[in-house]
Amino acid sequence: MKERLQKIIAQAGVASRRAAEEYIRAGRVAVDGTTVTEMGLQLDAGRHRITVDGKPIAREEQLVYILLNKPAGYVTTLSDPQGRPLITSLLREVKERVFPVGRLDLDTEGALILTNDGELANRIIHPKYEVNKTYVATVKGRPDRRQLRRLEEGILLEGHKTWPAKVRVVRQEGETSAIEIIIHEGKKRQVRKMFAAIGHPVLHLQRIAYGKLRLGALPLGSYRYLNQKDLTQIFAGKNMLYNS
Ligand code: URA
Repeated sequence: MKERLQKIIAQAGVASRRAAEEYIRAGRVAVDGTTVTEMGLQLDAGRHRITVDGKPIAREEQLVYILLNKPAGYVTTLSDPQGRPLITSLLREVKERVFPVGRLDLDTEGALILTNDGELANRIIHPKYEVNKTYVATVKGRPDRRQLRRLEEGILLEGHKTWPAKVRVVRQEGETSAIEIIIHEGKKRQVRKMFAAIGHPVLHLQRIAYGKLRLGALPLGSYRYLNQKDLTQIFAGKNMLYNS
């Protein structure tokens, strides 16, 4: 069966479909020894030798899904020119070549899914699938109802209005507040920028759930394999922001 090259690469678990497109554009992909840079080439993967950076893509690798409780101080990229610690160094027993689904900032802790299933990664990351991500942000000061409503209704960030969010005060202690915020977008430093925009900068940030899949009691720096039921939890509660 013929399929688009970027889809074949994603299914082989090398990268998400979007990242696979970047690889093609960057000239890192070859078919039968010839570099392919145009998008949308359709081919039967079984009949061709497809390589990324000169390495043949494996089609038989077992798909694995991992939930990591990322500590602060680790980068979510697979390499780092500045030599900072990589999240993959925490996956001691994982043999498969997994990549993170979306990103967390260097300073952000919490739930990070890693997989070699590019299709699933695409469904989690792409805003059109509206997978909710829940964060607990400890912020400076005590945002009032009106400020929190601005976050809920969507605020302008760099010329774009954020999608509606769900916001709840978890606790307030002295001059800090812990606020739970649920969004389905994944723009760079989005939660930090949203709170900065209402004048309450984030002091600490943790992601606690993808959809209804929660981090639970997983210790910081530890990971666990996800099963089929866990995967369905990711997509449960979709659109909850708009139905409630
Ligand atoms: N929003 C942020 O600001 N940082 C993250 O790491 C994730 C979401």
